[in-house]
Amino acid sequence: MAVRRPITTSKILKMKQDREPITVVTAYDYPSAYLVEQAGVDIILVGDSLGNVVLGYDSTVPVTIDDMVYHTRAVTRAVTTTFVVTDMPFLTYHGSIDETLRNAARIMQEGLAKAVKMEGGAEIAPAVQALTSAGIPVMGHLGLTPQSIHQIGGFKVQGKNSAQAQKMLADAKAIEQAGAFAIVLELVTEELAAWITDQLTIPTIGIGAGPTCDGQVLVYHDVLQYGPPSQPKRFVKTYANIGEIVKNGIAEYVKEVKERSFPTEAHGFQMDQELAQKLYGSEN
Ligand code: KIV
Repeated sequence: MAVRRPITTSKILKMKQDREPITVVTAYDYPSAYLVEQAGVDIILVGDSLGNVVLGYDSTVPVTIDDMVYHTRAVTRAVTTTFVVTDMPFLTYHGSIDETLRNAARIMQEGLAKAVKMEGGAEIAPAVQALTSAGIPVMGHLGLTPQSIHQIGGFKVQGKNSAQAQKMLADAKAIEQAGAFAIVLELVTEELAAWITDQLTIPTIGIGAGPTCDGQVLVYHDVLQYGPPSQPKRFVKTYANIGEIVKNGIAEYVKEVKERSFPTEAHGFQMDQELAQKLYGSEN
């Protein structure tokens, strides 16, 4: 297999120009990031969805900058060529530009991510511009923005009427203009996602936004059914059921320990039998 060159923002832009679909999967720790890179994914997103799927919160709101740095460090230790983007969590880019820069710097310098992702439209364009001017690549995120879930009032498809659609296109253009290298479109009608994708020079990465986006992103735990059973989501396709495999494997271990069939002689370390005889008076 040919050795893959590290993925860069220029490569990501070229993939849109060449109409090569961009693959994005979330990962939050060393083993998941290692496996995702081995599978040939272009971009790993250390999403603040880790609040839901790793930390057990019911939204991404409680996730902190420390959580994001900690998980990003584990992910970046595992990868060599995959482009790593980390979410700026709730309210870490809505204060002063200085504070926004300091938070993004932690993700880049301590976490070693290659880029950050920020949710929102024209209202965050000045923050996006400040980061991109400072050399920090930014991925935007429009449509259903989970950090605003309490304001939106639930996981609803966005951009269903003309006013919403016009606003989302204007927001996408504002984020592009501010220097973003890509934009996630989450839970957006296929027609609107296609329209925005066509109007932008930077790639769109869809999740529940149809097949015409320049790339697709899914959450690791959704792709693999890893963790507690969750409400089926129409936009998710499950490619493996490792939750079931993990549960069965651990249940088998429990059974064997209980019935003393694990460990066997093959899993242990035996003393010289003559010495054992001398010391303990019996052969083991
Ligand atoms: O946090 C996340 O995983 C995300 C994706 C769902 C796009 O933002």
